[in-house]
Amino acid sequence: MMPFYEIKHPLILDKLTRMRRKETTSKDFRENLNEIGMLMTYEALKDLPVIDVEIETPVKKTIGKTVDLPVVLIPIIRAGLGMTRGIQSLIPTARIAHIGLYRDEESLKPVQYFAKKTSDIDKSYVIVVDPMLATGGSAIKAIDIAKSWGAKNIRFICLVAVPEGVYALQKAHPDVDIYAASLDEKLDEHGYIVPGLGDAGDRIFGTK
Ligand code: PRP
Ligand code: URA
Repeated sequence: MMPFYEIKHPLILDKLTRMRRKETTSKDFRENLNEIGMLMTYEALKDLPVIDVEIETPVKKTIGKTVDLPVVLIPIIRAGLGMTRGIQSLIPTARIAHIGLYRDEESLKPVQYFAKKTSDIDKSYVIVVDPMLATGGSAIKAIDIAKSWGAKNIRFICLVAVPEGVYALQKAHPDVDIYAASLDEKLDEHGYIVPGLGDAGDRIFGTK
């Protein structure tokens, strides 16, 4: 079983608290989400292997380091899109695949409506992102799809998770590292995370 990491950096905790407040505007919500996405990715990729590369500075030839494998980012549409810009600014060469899922309101099961892969995903570090890990159904389905494309080295980054979602994801995909900024209490009867931050997609896109 791969570990679950709760990244408790003070800057991330401060930004997450801003996002949780119900009076936070959609603009501030999006800005903080992108910033947290970037900070969490920085942490989640700290073991990325590097290889030596010979370079020349204005002063002298020397040996530098470079990341040796491409990175593929997979936001789960819609809410995962809210973290994409921040992560892309950190890894400008990352390719972006997309998976569109929504939760059926009654069954809470994910329904797929879009999927677009990138080439060479089997040779890449793959990061699946979605701010919310609730029942775990959406993350499990997205990683099923990523694996069907050949993805092997996969990490899942979210903001807020609950224990039931973490267990479900670990059980379905024991080879995937999970990173969250907070492990919240539980799900309510409608499948919302408590205390959570509400519906992430609606808050990003202003749909409610
Ligand atoms: C939300 C969220 C996750 C999913 C998490 O998406 O962004 O994708 O729910 O819930 P789960 O762990 O129980 O599957 P939603 O279905 O509301 O779609 P949206 O992103 O388009 O708003
Ligand atoms: N999806 C959300 O956007 N929020 C929740 O609390 C649970 C699932």
